[in-house]
Amino acid sequence: KILIVDFGSQVTQLIARRVREEGVYCEIVPFQAAEAAFAAMAPIGVILSGGPASVTEAASPRVPQAIFEAGVPVLGICYGQQAMVAQLGGTVEGGHHREFGRAEVEVTAESALFDEVWRQGEKYPVWMSHGDRVTALPAGFSVIGVSANAPFAAIADERRRFFGVQFHPEVVHTPHGGALLRNFVRTIAGAKGDWTMRAFKDEAIARIRAQVGKERVICGLSGGVDSAVAAVLLHEAIGDQLTCVFVDHGLLRLGEAKKVMALFRHAYNIPLVLVEAEALFLKELEGVTDPEAKRKTIGKLFIDVFEAEASRIGGASFLAQGTLYPDVIESVSFTGGPSVTIKSHHNVGGLPERMNMKLVEPLRELFKDEVRALGRELGLPEAFVGRHPFPGPGLAIRCPGEITKDKLDILRLADEIYIEEIRRAGLYDEIWQAFAVLLPVRTVGVMGDGRTYDNVVALRAVTSVDGMTADFYPFDMRFLAHAATRIINEVKGVNRVVYDVTSKPPGTIEWE
Ligand code: XMP
Repeated sequence: KILIVDFGSQVTQLIARRVREEGVYCEIVPFQAAEAAFAAMAPIGVILSGGPASVTEAASPRVPQAIFEAGVPVLGICYGQQAMVAQLGGTVEGGHHREFGRAEVEVTAESALFDEVWRQGEKYPVWMSHGDRVTALPAGFSVIGVSANAPFAAIADERRRFFGVQFHPEVVHTPHGGALLRNFVRTIAGAKGDWTMRAFKDEAIARIRAQVGKERVICGLSGGVDSAVAAVLLHEAIGDQLTCVFVDHGLLRLGEAKKVMALFRHAYNIPLVLVEAEALFLKELEGVTDPEAKRKTIGKLFIDVFEAEASRIGGASFLAQGTLYPDVIESVSFTGGPSVTIKSHHNVGGLPERMNMKLVEPLRELFKDEVRALGRELGLPEAFVGRHPFPGPGLAIRCPGEITKDKLDILRLADEIYIEEIRRAGLYDEIWQAFAVLLPVRTVGVMGDGRTYDNVVALRAVTSVDGMTADFYPFDMRFLAHAATRIINEVKGVNRVVYDVTSKPPGTIEWE
C-alpha cells in the first residue's frame, strides 16, 4: 500500500489514479490525519501532495516526522517537496520567480526516479504551479533536474530514498509523469503491482462483515450503477441481513422500475421493497416550478418515504450508500487557519442523522470507472454497468416549469426513443450522458394538412470524464435528423426537436 498525504492540491486525486493504474493500492489522507494513518497502514511508500499553503508561513501544514524516520521511501510533489526540504534542514523561499503552466525540466543526473524513462541531458515538458521554491538542500540531497525558474526542480537523496519534484507528475500535461510515479511505487518502493478488482472485492467483503456484524443494513437503490454495485457487494458479504428499498417517485425513465426489480429480485434474489410513491410525489410537486424548490421537495419526500419503509421492515442499524471517492475527498481546503473542510456528499442526505443509523459506504475508495470494473467482477450485466448517470431528482429536473404526469409521459417516451437510437448507432458508450428535456414552450408546426401547436423537446448529449466539465457531443446531423423525425412521429404532443450545443461550463449538464 502507498499512502498519499493530501496538502490540499486540486489534483491530489490524480496521484491516486496514476498509482492505481500501476496496479498498486493507495489511499489519500488529509495531512491532519496522516500520522495516525501512517501508523495504521504501515505503507511501503509515501507520496506528499502539492497544496496551496506556503512553508514560509509559521502555521503551514507539516509532514509527520515519523514518516521521515521510518525508513520508507518518500516522494514530495510541489508543496510536498518544499515541506520535506524545510523539515529536513534545507531552505525554501517565497517566490520572486513564480512559475505556472508549461515548463521544461532538464535531467542533470541519473536517479532511480528517472530510470528507463528520463535520460540525463534531455529536456522534458512538465506542468508547474508554484510560487515558493527550494533554495538550499538538506544534507544527503542532490539536484537531479533543473528548470528555468527552479534550480531544484527535481531532487533526490538516493540513500534514504527521498525524492522531490517541483512539478506535477500526476497531470496529463506532464506527459511522462506517470512513468516517474511508476518508478517510485514499483521500483523504489517495491510494490508488486498486483492490486486488482478481485482483491478489492475480497477485502471489501471482509471489511463489510467486520463493520456490520450480525446487524441489519438497509440500502436505497436508485437504478444507478453506484448503488447497484454497493447492493450486490453487500449481498455477497452479508446475504439476507441486507434489505434494499427502491422508491418509484414517478420521475423515472420508461420501464425503469421493472428493470430494477427484474435485476435485483429475480437475477440476484436480493430482498427488495418497491415503494410506489408516484401519486405522493406528483401531488407535492404540484405548482412547484423553481429548480431548487423541486430538488428540496423531492429530497424531503424521499427521506420521508424511505424512513417509513425502513420502520415497516423493522428498522436497521446501518444505511448503505454508493458514495464514491470524488464525493468523499474533493480536496482538503487550507485557508490559512487550522479549520478544514472536507466535502462529504450524502446520497440520501439527512437520513442517517434522522434515523440514528450508521453508514456503510463500501465504494468510498473507488473512482467511477473502478466501480464499473467492480460491477463486472460481481457479474452485473454489461448493459447495467455501462449505464449513463441518472440524477436523484430524476425527470423532474428535465422538465423545466411545472411537472405533470402528462408532461412526464411525453418526456419518458421521447427519451426512450432518443436513447434507443443512440444505442442503435453504436454511440452509447462514447457518450457520458444523454437525455431528452421537455421544454415549457409550445410552438407552431404543420403536420399533414393541419396546424399544430405543441411541445418542444431538447436533446442533450455530452462527453465528460467526471461530470465536472463536459463538452456537447458532436453528432452527425443525419443522426439528429433521424432521431428528431422519430420523436415527432411517435410522441404525441411534440412537434419540434432541438439540440443543445452548450458545454459545461458555462452550462451544466442537466437543465435545472
Ligand atoms: P450538472 O447538471 O451539475 O450535473 O452539470 C453533473 C452530473 O451530476 C448529475 N446530477 C445529479 N445526480 N443528484 C444526483 O444524484 C442530483 O441532484 C444531481 N444533479 C445533477 C447529472 O446528471 C450529471 O451526471
